[in-house]
Amino acid sequence: MINREGETIAVPINRGTGTSAANVRKIAEERIVPRAGEIDKTGEYPWDLLELFKQQDLLGLSVPEEYGGSGADMLTYCLVVEEVARACASTSLIIAAQELGLMPILLGGSEEQKRKYLPKIAKGEYICAFGLTEPNAGSDAGGIRTRARREGDEYVLNGNKCFITNGGIADVYVIFAKTGPDAGLKGISAFIVEKDIPGFSVGKQEDKMGIKGSATAELILEDVRVPAANLLKREGAGFGIAMQTLDMTRPGIGAQALGIAQGALDCAVAYARERKQFGQTIGSFQAIQFMLADMSTRVEAARQLLYKSASLIGNSKELGVAPSEVTRFSAMAKLFASDTAMQVTTDAVQILGGYGYMKEYPVERMMRDAKITQIYEGTNQIQRLVIEKCLVGD
Ligand code: CAA
Repeated sequence: MINREGETIAVPINRGTGTSAANVRKIAEERIVPRAGEIDKTGEYPWDLLELFKQQDLLGLSVPEEYGGSGADMLTYCLVVEEVARACASTSLIIAAQELGLMPILLGGSEEQKRKYLPKIAKGEYICAFGLTEPNAGSDAGGIRTRARREGDEYVLNGNKCFITNGGIADVYVIFAKTGPDAGLKGISAFIVEKDIPGFSVGKQEDKMGIKGSATAELILEDVRVPAANLLKREGAGFGIAMQTLDMTRPGIGAQALGIAQGALDCAVAYARERKQFGQTIGSFQAIQFMLADMSTRVEAARQLLYKSASLIGNSKELGVAPSEVTRFSAMAKLFASDTAMQVTTDAVQILGGYGYMKEYPVERMMRDAKITQIYEGTNQIQRLVIEKCLVGD
């Protein structure tokens, strides 16, 4: 971090993690930190960092080795996302959105579908995206209106999707559509749609508050003829696939939030050590000390919940963890880490005062980036609903 006088202030690293996370941290510090401000300013997708992640095999972390992936467990995946997000939240989405897009294929794909798509996804030859949200179906994911009508060996898809991460960047989209318009949630099906198929187009690119280097776009489907072989699992299985996918990916959003919070805390600590007012560093004032102590406590609490959730979810079969516990821990990790990120980044801006509000310092970017983690992959109000249902629902 560079201070007002142009001096470099060492940002302390206050914890030790595994080897691969340490490697990613090194890459993040050397290659991503110097790019983060520019990515935010220009709003350009960081193609150079996508290439870097391809070289580092970070684009198919959860894909099993038999399909050409790294076969990493969920904790490793979360550690990687955390380290990248600590440097740049937009860039961490390259990894997290890939995971979100590939997960329905991993969970609901046939052997043939997995062999066809996963190796290319794991190599980064295919970038993927998750097409669930629609203008009238955000929290109420079951309310989607995109239709899929069977005609011989094809399904004909019509509808609009919005707020799709990687929209316009992705090669492969998993699109959720209604095959049984009167069958409620049981009428939702999931399809693999390749970008060049006639009738498929990318609409408006969103201009967002944060995560500016990540593409978020509208998708338009007009009489898109998808081979029936691209249906995941079976007709009507789509809602379950979507929910199970989110169970597996929400911890990644928790990891992103944790990384943002850690990055902001690191900046605030470094600034408190350097910045002088009333003849002494501001870190010597109790008002600042107490804020930093609370921020650190919250970050560590979020980390413990996230790591526990990731270990539990990643080993759920071996440990005999009930599916509702997987759902609950996934939602709790995302909820707590993202609320933590919002609070800690806001406090970091406060500690940096006027400078914190300026784009010259990274904390205002981190505060803007933190906000989305409370919203996407299910708002935190929805996470609370999900947690409550797992506790007292039938
Ligand atoms: N795993 C498996 N099945 C599940 C499940 C899970 N985690 N959660 C629910 N289901 C099943 C239920 O068992 C139930 O099945 P039965 O009917 O057979 O009993 C069925 O799904 C319906 O469940 P609910 O009654 O709980 O459904 P609901 O409509 O009341 O509420 C919801 C569901 C939890 C609110 C859900 O709609 C939801 O998660 N909404 C948020 C959507 C979301 O996260 N969107 C994010 C989009 S992706 C994104 O943001 C990334 C990006 O690119 C920007």
